Amino acid sequence: LNDAGQKVFELNLQRGQKSFLPGTSTETFGINGDYLGPTIRLSKGDKALFKVTNHLGERTTIHWHGAHVPAAMDGGPHQVIEAGETWQPSFEIMQPAATLWYHPHLHGKTGEHVYKGLAGFFIVDDEVSDSLPLPKTYGVDDIPIVIQDRNIDPDGTMNYTINNMENMMGFRGAYILVNGAVTPTLETKAQMIRLRLLNGSNARIYNFGFSDNRTFYQIATDGGLLQTPVPMNRLRLAPGERAEILLDLRQDINNYLILKSYSEETTPSLMRDSMMSRGRMMSDDLDMQTFDVMYIRIGEIGDNGASLPSQLTSIDWLQSATAVRTRTFVLGMGMGMGMGRRFSQSTERHMFTINGQSFDMNRIDETVRLGDTEIWVIRNQSMAHPFHMHDVQFQILDRNGAPPSASEKGWKDTVLVMPNETVRVIARFDDFADPDHAYMYHCHILEHEDDGMMGQFIVV
Ligand code: C2O
Ligand code: CU
Ligand code: CU
Repeated sequence: LNDAGQKVFELNLQRGQKSFLPGTSTETFGINGDYLGPTIRLSKGDKALFKVTNHLGERTTIHWHGAHVPAAMDGGPHQVIEAGETWQPSFEIMQPAATLWYHPHLHGKTGEHVYKGLAGFFIVDDEVSDSLPLPKTYGVDDIPIVIQDRNIDPDGTMNYTINNMENMMGFRGAYILVNGAVTPTLETKAQMIRLRLLNGSNARIYNFGFSDNRTFYQIATDGGLLQTPVPMNRLRLAPGERAEILLDLRQDINNYLILKSYSEETTPSLMRDSMMSRGRMMSDDLDMQTFDVMYIRIGEIGDNGASLPSQLTSIDWLQSATAVRTRTFVLGMGMGMGMGRRFSQSTERHMFTINGQSFDMNRIDETVRLGDTEIWVIRNQSMAHPFHMHDVQFQILDRNGAPPSASEKGWKDTVLVMPNETVRVIARFDDFADPDHAYMYHCHILEHEDDGMMGQFIVV
């Protein structure tokens, strides 16, 4: 705590070297280390000050994904941290307990900067989550798990080069990194554990499950706890999305499990009915497969006493009748951008659009009035895109007119919109008005975002 009562965090963005594959070394970006960054942990009501120093030798930004903060503190493409400079945003935590994250947001460079290793968890606590009998010991039974796929050459090189294919499908890799290690092993006692899953990949969508097909319980979405735990044996997570799950290992003394991604919901079906129905041609090896993400070795019986509560929190449902405006966002493909065209050298490589337009730093697309509740209709005329909004957490009203599944009935900031799907979400834009600073909305496939599949709104 400093004199102003703020919790102070120092984040040093720096270059590093890390050995992902034995006997090799990879050039990376990291925060206070060689790859990824420290977990920021704050409680509702805390005031925080960040000192973000850029030692990378090139400009970047740091955005607090999922955090409800003033636009000037949001870390979007306008809040550039030049090489050698320190950015000092400060804000108060005003939202319920949730698993958020932070990552760069420099326009045109977000994909590359995240890919090289700039990202970290941002965990919010509150009285509600503190009072529940959930696993709470960080790193022991309450474990952050960021999943990222990476291409690493046999000599350790991690190349980020975008050509037509990567621009369209997003940049994907054949190695699955969990918290920066290639398919690692989690050692745990036989007890209830909580995994805070973050899909921190640039583009890959996962469909998680466990090797024995067991039931696990989702307890939280992007923006906080669900009302009640949702039993499931598959969990789909698109880039940018988070889910907290409880895994009951009390009967698993000396057992062995694998967290896997199952093939049935990956790219080919995500491409179905889209303009690019050649899903098979566009997919990489892993899209067609079930693959291992993390191994779990369970030892002796544990005694954390954690259990599965039947009730988690109560959620204030936003009512459609209170919405004063409906806006429509059409996710589409730009005109004249044939697949054969090479635009890796070009500055105009816009393939994906929102409402027919590509991102423009100098154009405000939407103006929202402070305190208003709005319905945003996201209509997809292209391949599957995870649509993300800054500033607010929203609620999903429906998908093609049908209510969302139980696992999506909670606070969200990112929603996967399937080909030919229309998703309606509702949000209230409270607390922060600023005509001079914009918030972003965009596709969270980072190559699409960098390509211009992004817009900006101000709250006034
Ligand atoms: Cu996770 Cu606008 O970003
Ligand atoms: Cu964000
Ligand atoms: Cu996209």
